[in-house]
Amino acid sequence: MITIVGTGRVGVAVATHLAIKGLDDLMLIDIIEGLPQGEALDLTHMCTTLGIDIDISGSNDYRDMSGSELVIVPAGFIRTADMSRLDLLNKNSEVIKTVSKGIKEYAPNSKVIIVTNPLDVMTYLAYKVTGFERNRVFGFSGLLDTSRYRSLIAKELGVAASSVYTTIIGEHGDTMVLLPRFTTVGGVPLESLMPKEKIQQIIERTKKMGAEIIKLKKWSASHAVGAGVAMMAEAIIKDTKSVIPVSTYLQGEYGVSDVCAVVPTIIGKNGVEKILELPLNDEERTAFLKSIETIKSAISQLQF
Ligand code: 2OP
Repeated sequence: MITIVGTGRVGVAVATHLAIKGLDDLMLIDIIEGLPQGEALDLTHMCTTLGIDIDISGSNDYRDMSGSELVIVPAGFIRTADMSRLDLLNKNSEVIKTVSKGIKEYAPNSKVIIVTNPLDVMTYLAYKVTGFERNRVFGFSGLLDTSRYRSLIAKELGVAASSVYTTIIGEHGDTMVLLPRFTTVGGVPLESLMPKEKIQQIIERTKKMGAEIIKLKKWSASHAVGAGVAMMAEAIIKDTKSVIPVSTYLQGEYGVSDVCAVVPTIIGKNGVEKILELPLNDEERTAFLKSIETIKSAISQLQF
């Protein structure tokens, strides 16, 4: 069973993509009475229409996550366009603490994907509060930020976005580090196809894309989040060993410790099975360390 804690727009988008993949039964949990139950019925009927035979239930009780192999946590408040993700720290840390205690008690053998912002800080908090091994608690965002970057590059070059390969490191926030040197278009280095200034414009727009979307649709991005989280869930359930950038607890990798940040990892049935280290140049390393400092300073505001 896969549990989703938080069934607002993001949680429902995650549930929809998971249901369409038919990976496993779903349990939707939310504190709002009726909401997860109603969404569960609606999604059940979607699956009936599509011929997908999974069981989908809704509950207001954390006990109902018992037996979950995977718990996905999009619970919490979203920001408005004028807020940074870090502005959500105080409100959402209370939510993540409560949810993490529930997971520790009722799904002690699960893997946990955090989706709540500020992503790296909430992942760190969930890792500490659950006390699970670090491979079992990690955060979604890399597939979201790289999807934005890849789609902008694809549009500019007139190629399929699926042919643009890349990765990302650092914070899911204003200091995220996009990596043109590690970006290729079907294996051809991006830097040989596009002038530096254009790449820089795309990077800047990517960094602000979350806010651009909130400003336009008056709500946080959800569809791309749902698709990306479901891809991570599939990598776990099917043990695919997919290489996916996720926020994970670093213990010396990239020369940093006691912080969660996005890096490329191998995802399989045990969660984060391996952290891959990129050979960064000085400029990339400096940008990464700036990102780490930002996350660490936010972590220092947490109260356990
Ligand atoms: C985003 O980047 C809200 O962090 C989310 O769209």
